[in-house]
Amino acid sequence: MDYEVICVETSDLLREAFAVRLEVFVKEQGVPEEEELDVYDAEAVHFIAKERGSNKVIGTARLIQKSPEIGKIGRVAVLPDHRGRGVGTQIMQVIESFAHERNLRYLELDAQLQAIPFYERLGYTASGDIFLDAGIQHRKMTKTLHRAEKETSTT
Ligand SMILES: CC(C)(COP(=O)(O)OP(=O)(O)OC[C@H]1O[C@@H](n2cnc3c(N)ncnc32)[C@H](O)[C@@H]1OP(=O)(O)O)[C@@H](O)C(=O)NCCC(=O)NCCS
Repeated sequence: MDYEVICVETSDLLREAFAVRLEVFVKEQGVPEEEELDVYDAEAVHFIAKERGSNKVIGTARLIQKSPEIGKIGRVAVLPDHRGRGVGTQIMQVIESFAHERNLRYLELDAQLQAIPFYERLGYTASGDIFLDAGIQHRKMTKTLHRAEKETSTT
């Protein structure tokens, strides 16, 4: 199966992104529904992964800009039947390119303990104490994005 990751630009796609989050975080992981959607959803840039053939949305994540240099990734979710096929990695890579183009320097996220190896493979480093969010143990993780070298003119 071939997947495509795009930035959400319509309310229909946003609804589908929220449906994936509901399925994964609320139904699968038991996060209270009232905590799943939050005030940051209004300002976040949302991304979805869809099957190229069917256009079915099967994954999502969001990016919040915390300052001119810092972005926070959150709500990374892939439906169970589509896990282990590189979709989560593809979503993270598209978000990183997007962040890079917008001159963000650092990406941070709150990782569930079970997901830390997934983020470590992508270059994120855990720091600080374990904390609870929605009853699930998390640690903070960060990654520095490398800026493209400035072009130098020889003429
Ligand atoms: C975490 C999640 C987004 C990963 O998505 P995915 O599409 O399965 O990830 P990928 O297929 O790109 O995995 C890349 C690698 O990370 C590994 N990996 C993925 N999830 C992992 C996890 N939870 N723990 C350990 N390793 C994991 C995969 O095995 C894979 O390694 P491989 O290349 O050797 O097979 C997905 O498992 C998910 O939605 N989980 C439930 C929600 C969740 O926990 N979100 C994170 C909240 S912080």
